[in-house]
Amino acid sequence: MRSAVYPGSFDPITNGHIDIIERTAEVFDKVYVAILQNSSKSPLFSVEERTELIKRVTKHIPNVEVVSFDGLLVDFMREKNAKVIVKGLRAVSDFEYEFQMALTNRKLAPEVETLFMMTHASNQYLSSSIVKEVAKYKASLDGMVPKEIQADIYKKIDEV
Ligand code: PNS
Repeated sequence: MRSAVYPGSFDPITNGHIDIIERTAEVFDKVYVAILQNSSKSPLFSVEERTELIKRVTKHIPNVEVVSFDGLLVDFMREKNAKVIVKGLRAVSDFEYEFQMALTNRKLAPEVETLFMMTHASNQYLSSSIVKEVAKYKASLDGMVPKEIQADIYKKIDEV
């Protein structure tokens, strides 16, 4: 069985992430959406909350499993016996950091391959940070995140 791991902070998940997950699920038998636990960024949503939000918006994709990991991504890859990391690329600005991470991961685990998927044009501008900024000012999140999680985002932003 061919498995891919799609890692990230997902704080929160956006339509850009969902597009990459749907397309990855078409080409792999199994997709692990892997939430980083020990991020240096202080996340808005807990890992449990992020897991629940991702599950809610990916329930239409049968071969997706939402998991979380701590420490190095390549260690998690080995644990799951997965050989492919999938990353979304939005713009040239993403490239430099992603290239650095891909080469670091290859140095640490030569058997692991990183594949980049170009984001859909309509999601080029999107990021979790943009979503949080828009939500803070109560502007519309339509087209950025699915309707079914918009209320959760507005509510959480209000709590902090
Ligand atoms: O959504 P993000 O925040 O851009 O995702 C970044 C992520 C989680 C993919 C990256 O930070 C990661 O893989 N962290 C785990 C630590 C690790 O393996 N570091 C070595 C590669 S630089």
